[in-house]
Amino acid sequence: MKLSNLQKKLEKSEQYLPAEDTFFLADQLTGLSGNSALDIGCGSGYLTNVLKSTFNFVVGTDISFNTLLEQNYKTQNVICCNSADALNQKFDLIICNLPYLATDEIIDVATDGGKDGLEIPIEIINSALPHLSQKGKFLFVTSSLSDYMGLIDFVKSKNFEAKIIDKKKLFYEELIIVQVNHSLS
Ligand SMILES: C[S@@+](CC[C@H](N)C(=O)[O-])C[C@H]1O[C@@H](n2cnc3c(N)ncnc32)[C@H](O)[C@@H]1O
Repeated sequence: MKLSNLQKKLEKSEQYLPAEDTFFLADQLTGLSGNSALDIGCGSGYLTNVLKSTFNFVVGTDISFNTLLEQNYKTQNVICCNSADALNQKFDLIICNLPYLATDEIIDVATDGGKDGLEIPIEIINSALPHLSQKGKFLFVTSSLSDYMGLIDFVKSKNFEAKIIDKKKLFYEELIIVQVNHSLS
């Protein structure tokens, strides 16, 4: 997408309020703790706030500046950038509730993933992977409405391990949680 088009879309973007996918990812955080955590596409800040209770240092990023200004669940360390591009450290846990819908074009940055629901997720994951600490865990949400196996194959092509750890059926789609780790080999 041209930069000027993206800027126009971002000006109109609104905060994504916590929904089924947000709560499903929040469920996966139970029992997880550590030093540092990163919430990519933090939106309202709901998940960033959940992480704050068990991680010492938590950062949220979002490509939409409007969203960060309007956040319902305000947190301290929020950065407006693409995925993890502005960061120079590694994290014990990275989470992302991806914009995963398969769409011909990106109209809503909060939900639209581009062709096969892969275009934007691949961009986000590609930026996130170098920021995962050696023993770290990266959890993202995707859906049966996107080519989630294509996404898993993409992660594996980068020499990481990726597996589905949970699924939840909604009436029109199945939410899928993928866990990514550094490959042991
Ligand atoms: C489905 S919403 C999830 C919001 C929140 N994490 C939640 O679970 O409720 C996806 C979020 O990702 C943000 N986003 C989209 N593309 C992004 C990118 N390339 N880098 C960072 N954030 C992005 C959107 O602005 C939106 O806030």
